[in-house]
Amino acid sequence: MSPPATQPATRPRVYITRRIPGEALQLLETHCDCRIFDHEDTPVPRDVLQRELAEAEGALVLITERVDEELLASAPRLRVVANLAVGYDNIDVAACTRRGVLVTNTPGVLTETTADLAWALLMATARRVVEAQKVIERGQWRTWSPMFLTGQDVYGRTLGIIGAGRIGGAVARRARGFDMTILYHNRRRRPELEADTGARYAGFHELLERSDFVVVLVPLTPETRHLINEDALRRMKPSAILINVSRGPVVDEKALYKALTEGWIWAAGLDVWEQEPIGPDHPLLALPNVVGLPHIGSASIATRTRMAVVAAENLIAGVTGRRPPNLVNPEAWERREGRATNG
Ligand code: DGY
Repeated sequence: MSPPATQPATRPRVYITRRIPGEALQLLETHCDCRIFDHEDTPVPRDVLQRELAEAEGALVLITERVDEELLASAPRLRVVANLAVGYDNIDVAACTRRGVLVTNTPGVLTETTADLAWALLMATARRVVEAQKVIERGQWRTWSPMFLTGQDVYGRTLGIIGAGRIGGAVARRARGFDMTILYHNRRRRPELEADTGARYAGFHELLERSDFVVVLVPLTPETRHLINEDALRRMKPSAILINVSRGPVVDEKALYKALTEGWIWAAGLDVWEQEPIGPDHPLLALPNVVGLPHIGSASIATRTRMAVVAAENLIAGVTGRRPPNLVNPEAWERREGRATNG
């Protein structure tokens, strides 16, 4: 991709690890010398990524790319890593900061879309929507009968949100329409959420014990890995439903399997998995009380396009010497002064 005659010849080199919406690519091409792994459904092989980053000043990456010490060591010119996601557990932020590499994410733009998906899972698990369609497809619908495919009510029940940030707040706002009692558990209290939705702060154990629906929305960190473990699941009601739209490793899948097969809880709706992607033989998918999705929380056309544009804007800012709007590691910005490379 050689630059048009009107552009300066020294535009910063950036690498884009997947095909992205045209709007975002065009924006990047206006400011940068872009190279791209132009595939829709294939993650960039590690060796290709390493080779490309050897020359790049910026990278637009997805959650499928692991940005770690080893990769950074082979990327001496790298100054910015723009993640096309709000979560950034795929990136070793501390290693980036040590090298003065800016890390950015895409907060805000996916809030409502992801809250919608959490609710889609909540409703689908409560009313056995997927299981019910399979009954028809298998020719098993013989007649109407009083307790056929009966599920759980949503209206008027108790919703517990673990990790009430932006998306948690949006999930809570939707719950008002269902006249639900809303509990939340967070590192810090959120008085504005309480005022806005009537949500009440609860301890972790209290929330698990009282909620009919537990929605997990925490970021993945060493502290939240397997937060929902055997002990947490045993505290939930036998009629309760677990929804995970954050990151798979927050839930211990082996413990969840036991909980669902031994009746400690009633159902689970999962958009994320411990090891993604999963295949059709994943043990949890064999259970009728699991609704499983392939990590599509933010996947509306408008939102994914907006996320790509926000990631592009972050990247352009970083490689052209401006502070990116969604900087995850401000310390790296400070360190950058007086450093030309990340070595
Ligand atoms: C995010 O933004 O972190 C999502 O999980 C990707 O859709």
